[in-house]
Amino acid sequence: EQINKGKYEHYMQKEIHEQPESLTTSMRGRLIRGGSSKKKSVLLGGLKDHLKTIRRSRRIVFIGCGTSYNAALAARPILEELSDIPVMMEIASDLLDRQAPVYRDDTIIFVSQSGETADTLNALEYARENGALCVGITNTVGSAIARNTHCGVHINAGSEIGVASTKAYTSQIVVLAMVALAIGADTVSTKQRREGIIESLLNLPGKIREVLKLDEQMKDLARSLISEQSLVMFGRGYNYATALEGALKVKEVALMHSEGILAGEMKHGLLALVDENLPIVVITTRDQCFSKQQSVIQQLKAKRSTDSYVYRRRCSNLPLQLLAYHLTVLRGYNVDQPRNLAKSVTTE
Ligand code: G6P
Repeated sequence: EQINKGKYEHYMQKEIHEQPESLTTSMRGRLIRGGSSKKKSVLLGGLKDHLKTIRRSRRIVFIGCGTSYNAALAARPILEELSDIPVMMEIASDLLDRQAPVYRDDTIIFVSQSGETADTLNALEYARENGALCVGITNTVGSAIARNTHCGVHINAGSEIGVASTKAYTSQIVVLAMVALAIGADTVSTKQRREGIIESLLNLPGKIREVLKLDEQMKDLARSLISEQSLVMFGRGYNYATALEGALKVKEVALMHSEGILAGEMKHGLLALVDENLPIVVITTRDQCFSKQQSVIQQLKAKRSTDSYVYRRRCSNLPLQLLAYHLTVLRGYNVDQPRNLAKSVTTE
């Protein structure tokens, strides 16, 4: 399955560019734009028998590592909004280090591309012992996490070879958005909002095709950053996860120190590092955080004279994937197999 690079030089590059198709596959047969009645709905076979239990949960907890954790963080606001249930975030190893309380009426969603990450699997064992309902979101049919959870959804992104996750990240977010839609499907007051989200999801592959046209622009930006020591990314709201994931990509493959910062926290620390030399990416989309991000930009501009800003209406993560890819190639590093990292970490 899809194991040659085709016209691309690297797997990461191929996987970035095939996202319109991988997202279409993730949604296929699951999002229904009903014929003449124009009824829009979501159908997730692997969850349907458990939705009632999930809706009655005391809380929903996301557990993952690395990019999978970031995907869950990206989906959190939409799940909170549509389920009206508190949604907590847990890094698998940290939950175990703390032996954090887990309850019988918790729904725990395990997010893992490989379905084999040891930390996530150990957290799954712990959650099962504590009686929680365990849901698996993986890209690997038959993986340990898929087998050992009570129910779940495969993201169907196709095999991902590049160690740094790209297309699996976007498919995880889309699948988690569909999970949120399924959990909220009975709520009359959010019907219009849900239909709007379904429509946006169905239009996403086309939007991504547009954003991928930024390739050359991102290469130019990468060229200007090639000898930097560090890169800071600011995001908030839906784009907090974008900032963390953008920085993770730059660290993983371009081997450059990078930090994703919640913009609301800027004044509580990072601002001290801002000077003329520190390169900063501010992620801004037209959402409820737009004006707050504008004031962040103003505050930063007051401290420096030159800046480059990435601006797109939607799909804000894609340009950062392209940026990390080009930065790596230009710096001469191995983009598909970064030093010291493994695609799937099966030891604790
Ligand atoms: C490793 C990989 C990352 C991945 C993380 C979680 O660190 O290098 O790309 O995000 O594991 O993997 P999973 O398969 O559980 O999503």
